[in-house]
Order: sequence, then structure tokens, then C-alpha cells
Amino acid sequence: MNREALIAELQALTSAQRASAAPAHLDQHSQDQSSHAAHQPDAVVWPETTAEVSSIAALANRQRIGITAWGAGSSLEGNSIPVHGGIVMDFTHMNRVLALHAADFQVVVQPGIFYKDMNKALAKSGLFFAPDPGANASIGGMVANNAAGTRTVKYGATRDNVLALEVVLADGQILRTGCRSTKQSAGYDLTRLLVGSEGTLALVTEATLRLAPLPEHFSAVVAAFPTTNEAAQAVFGIMGSGLNPAALELLDTATVTAINNADALGLHPSPTLFVEFHAASEATLAAELGMVEEICRELQCSSFQSGVGRAARDRLWAARHGLGELFKRIHPGQGYLITDVAVPISQYAALVAEGTAILAQLEGVSGYLFGHAGDGNLHSHICFADDAADRAQLERMVNDRLVEKALALGGTCTGEHGVGIGKQKYMLREHGAPTLDLMRRIKTLFDSNDILNPGKILGGDRAA
Ligand code: LAC
Ligand code: ZN
Repeated sequence: MNREALIAELQALTSAQRASAAPAHLDQHSQDQSSHAAHQPDAVVWPETTAEVSSIAALANRQRIGITAWGAGSSLEGNSIPVHGGIVMDFTHMNRVLALHAADFQVVVQPGIFYKDMNKALAKSGLFFAPDPGANASIGGMVANNAAGTRTVKYGATRDNVLALEVVLADGQILRTGCRSTKQSAGYDLTRLLVGSEGTLALVTEATLRLAPLPEHFSAVVAAFPTTNEAAQAVFGIMGSGLNPAALELLDTATVTAINNADALGLHPSPTLFVEFHAASEATLAAELGMVEEICRELQCSSFQSGVGRAARDRLWAARHGLGELFKRIHPGQGYLITDVAVPISQYAALVAEGTAILAQLEGVSGYLFGHAGDGNLHSHICFADDAADRAQLERMVNDRLVEKALALGGTCTGEHGVGIGKQKYMLREHGAPTLDLMRRIKTLFDSNDILNPGKILGGDRAA
């Protein structure tokens, strides 16, 4: 089917305005927040109902045309780049809250609603969806990628907070998984399978999410340490002591210095932990802060600031969430590489030591190390003169080595960004052939014509 015919068919299934091959639309849907090469789709379509999603899927399946779902385009591993062209299905017109079950701490939403907008709307009910990717991601994208972030250490990742889904299969069939009970034991957990499947198994058209009450009392701590090793030891100390922080982030000296230069936060320029606690009472909060202080002081922290007020706390988190953008501003026009390994918490210090050693060996590039330490999740952000040879070399020197170390420590190549394009090469190593083969059979069962987000997760064969 040529592009004109495809647009005509898509317009017939939606409306004249809601299917396009205009260059600006194709361009807007060709790139996410990663540094993977952009690739334009052949067409963009904006469905407004599950029935439209279903009829578009049926068409694409008959014609063997790929469909890549699109939300905010904020993914970090090329997850939403339509690497084989085809249709990008932009869900932003399906952005309604369908039902709020406040007494059950649940909300039912369409996938195109953006996470921050949803939480703003929920705030009047005293509730929020806790997984916090930093970016204003869409809920569909968060579900697709099992997004996580700074609050996951206490509240879990997206997968832990999805109770039920309505999805459209590759052939257009509409079905539901899960239910609104927080306990579910009835057979295979298809909801958990679909969350994190990056749009390769089905298109999510509705999600029932578990919410948390907005914390009554919270407090932030900023603790600086002489070395990253001591900071990482403190992470293990805090988590190992049974404390339940709502966020526990590690930032290396380069990252802290970048924040100080940009935001004048006056942080001690050395490896630093940002810790936050949410509690039902001031007394609980005070007890937790006291324990954290003891752990940090035992590890010779060079500064410890607790009881950070609301405004200062908000500035800290704004600076933390803005890191990706900040690094791009500091190194304009440069290429960048973002890594996302995660390990069991007892192995975090070993992972951080490896990351520090790898970055110390790099010449002529700027490297930053930071991460969701409480989850054992470590990011690096490496900026370099944009050149394909440099990129390939840094992949080997940084990503391959970090992944090798993480796997040896019992961890994973990606804690939250997903496999997308860039992590496919690690899948065999991480899972082993029999498990990977079962994943391929699951993919075939759901999508025998490989039309759903082709070229991702297990798309190496087709991509090659
Ligand atoms: C962050 C992204 C890189 O944590 O996941 O800022
Ligand atoms: Zn992250």
C-alpha cells in the first residue's frame, strides 16, 4: 500500500484531520529523548476511541504495516522511534480520566494523559500516581516502558501500580486484563506481562492505576561524602537498616558541580545523596531523620543537612529532574550516551566503584554518574564530540562494561529505560537462550506478523 492510499484509509477510519503525512508531523514523531538516530514514520494517526484503535490495528495487520505507539516522546532508549517507518499511533487525543475510585485509591485513565497533568487533577482528591519518571511522560508510555524514577524505592515502578488494562491486539481484538481488586490470583498475570512490553505485544487503550495518598509530612536530607564509595556505602546502610525512604538519589561530584553552576544551590561539591522521607506523623519523620544522620556520620559524611524546607526541597528535585536537559545545555551539539544498569542493593557500592573507574579512564569526554541509589539503579550520562566512531567506542567502553559488571553482580542492563533499540544486544546475555526463545514465542503468539513496534526488544532479526 503506498503512502497516499494508507493516509486515505486512515482518514476513512478516523477523520480527515486525524491522519497525516505532513513533513512536520512525521518529524515530530521521529525521535525521542535518547540519542538514537531519528526515523520518520510513513503516517501519523490520532485515534480518539478504542474502536478506532482496533480498526487501525486490523488494517495494519492485514497490510503488514508496523504500528508504533506514541505518547510524549520522552523515552530514553529509542523505544518510540518508528525504526521501520509505518504508522505512528499518537494517543494524545485519548487523554481523559474515565473514573476516579477515590475510596479505593484508584483511577481509570486513557493512555494519552500526561503523568504530571493527571497528578495535578488528582491532587484535589489528596491522591497521586507515585512512579515519577521526571519527564512529563504519558501514562501509556509509562505503562509500555514500566517507567520508574525517584519515588520507586518506596512506591514501586509502574508495573507495581497497574491493576488492569484494556488493550487492542495486533489483529484488532479488544480485551481486558486484571481487575480492580488489589489481590489477584486468577491465572496468568497478563497485566504484568503487558506492562513493560514497549508496545510490542498490544496497544494499551485504558489503564486502571493504583494511587497513593499525598504525603502529610515529608522531609529532605542532603548529605555529602568524601568519595562515591562512602556515599554508596551509606545507601546500603540506609536501605539495610529497614528505613523506607521515598527517594534516595546518588549524584557524583561532576553532577553536583553542574547543578551548582546552573542553579546556585550551594551544594557541597562532592558525592552527594538526596534523601526524602514521607510519613504519617512528624514524630516518625524525626526518628527516621535521626537514623539517617547516624548512618551518614558513621561513614564520615562531609556535610549533612536535614529538615530541608519545602521551597529548597522543590528546587533540589527540579534540579535532579532537569539533569538530562542540563547536560545537553552544558554540552551543546555534542553526542550523548545514557546508561541504566541496576543491581541488588548489597552490590550497589561495587557497581558505583566500577562506574567511577570507567569514567576516570575516559579522555576528552565529560561523564556524569548519578542514579536512583535506593533501587540499586545507576545512570551515567556521557557527552562527546558527535561522531559515529566515538559513539561506538563509548558504547564499548562504558555501556558494555557497566552491563557486564551489573550482570555479574546479579543485576540487569536496564532498570527503567527499557530495551528499546540500544539494549537488544544484551538480551541474550542477560536472559539466556531458552528464556529469550520463550519471549520470542510470546511475541509471535501476540503479534505473528510483527507489526507492533517492530525492531524493538527482540527486533534484532528484523532490524539486521
Ligand atoms: C533520570 C533518567 C536518566 O533518572 O532516568 O534522570
Ligand atoms: Zn532515572
